[in-house]
Amino acid sequence: MDLYEYQAKDLFAKYGVPVLPGTVATTPDQARGAAEELGVPVVVKAQVKTGGRGKAGGVKLAENPAETQEKAEAILGLDIKGHTVHRVLVTPASDIAEEYYFSFLLDRTNRTFLAMASVEGGMDIEEVAATKPEALARIAIDPIAGVDSAKAREIVEAAKFPAEVADQVADSIVKLWATFVGEDATLVEVNPLVRDPEGRIIALDGKVTLDENAAFRHADHAELVDKGAEDPLEAAAKAKDLNYVKLDGQVGIIGNGAGLVMSTLDVVAYAGEKHGGVKPANFLDIGGGASAEVMANGLEIILSDPDVTSVFVNVFGGITACDAVANGIVAAFALLDSRGEAVTRPIVVRLDGNNAQEGRRILTEAALPGLVQVDTMDDAATKAAELAAQGA
Ligand SMILES: Nc1ncnc2c1ncn2[C@@H]1O[C@H](COP(=O)(O)OP(=O)(O)O)[C@@H](O)[C@H]1O
Ligand SMILES: [Mg+2]
Repeated sequence: MDLYEYQAKDLFAKYGVPVLPGTVATTPDQARGAAEELGVPVVVKAQVKTGGRGKAGGVKLAENPAETQEKAEAILGLDIKGHTVHRVLVTPASDIAEEYYFSFLLDRTNRTFLAMASVEGGMDIEEVAATKPEALARIAIDPIAGVDSAKAREIVEAAKFPAEVADQVADSIVKLWATFVGEDATLVEVNPLVRDPEGRIIALDGKVTLDENAAFRHADHAELVDKGAEDPLEAAAKAKDLNYVKLDGQVGIIGNGAGLVMSTLDVVAYAGEKHGGVKPANFLDIGGGASAEVMANGLEIILSDPDVTSVFVNVFGGITACDAVANGIVAAFALLDSRGEAVTRPIVVRLDGNNAQEGRRILTEAALPGLVQVDTMDDAATKAAELAAQGA
């Protein structure tokens, strides 16, 4: 999960990384009020989860409260790389002597963490990285050893930070590492990290990506989720503990196990090529224990998507045997019926593996409306694609 700048800087503050105060505003009027409270001059900054806001006109200086209101008016509603600005951060304008770059990230290629630092930070860091790679120091971080002040020093020296700020930058680096580890982040980036004319170091911008797999360790991260920007079906699925990802096709997909679901996406997309180019509408993994309730919730989520014109339930019985899954499907139909959401779109079911015969018998006997059984994955995918194309 990516955070907004103001959320990232709140986390920095929690770990003692120097940041400026700020107020989030959703209307020009609120922005004006924020400037009155903070004192001018201020900078009005678009809060969108993408970089390059400065170049896109999303970061503007305002000398007084009235100008703050005007700048906020201009920035709110702006489209920055496909992201609409719904709120701005009003923060004191800093005098900037120098702009540096610093980040910690997960280095998947080398299976470790990486620190990147440059004394040529600011809005052109991408260009610096591309044309002057030597100006961007890259230091591998041993995940067990982490970053102590000696390691921070090594980074400071590798990036050639000026001697007068070396101590402060090293101190901030140790605190940024504490943020990275303490919050289970996969990215912590500060660009620019600035030196002001008095020689103080401040994190003026912040970008943080949190590892959602670690959410169970961080009850407080739930409130960082931007409810308004979430896909409503994905949010409903998350509330029911389902692994659901909305895609833009027509065949709703339910499977047990991420590997099976992913290969199901492939066979459906392949089969869809012969049926008007229909594609998977979603990814939904109901996991190992496919109880009736889980199956009902899964079907309910998928059928709430108006783009779905057929559903493919692909289950390989393992620990949960196919007869249990079949009973789950039968119960799911009854449950949805009782909720007034009777299944009206075609559902193709393929059961294989543990107790497949019994599972198929249960479904045959139940004679559920619109439910078709197909024994192999490829044939079932073809059937689901064909039905989706007919219903579209
Ligand atoms: N509080 C501030 N005071 C003065 N200048 C700022 C302030 N915040 C940002 N800037 C300037 O605006 C530039 C872009 O802002 P930044 O927050 O880095 O957004 P982005 O990286 O999305 O362009 C910074 O490099 C800096 O020069
Ligand atoms: Mg920046």
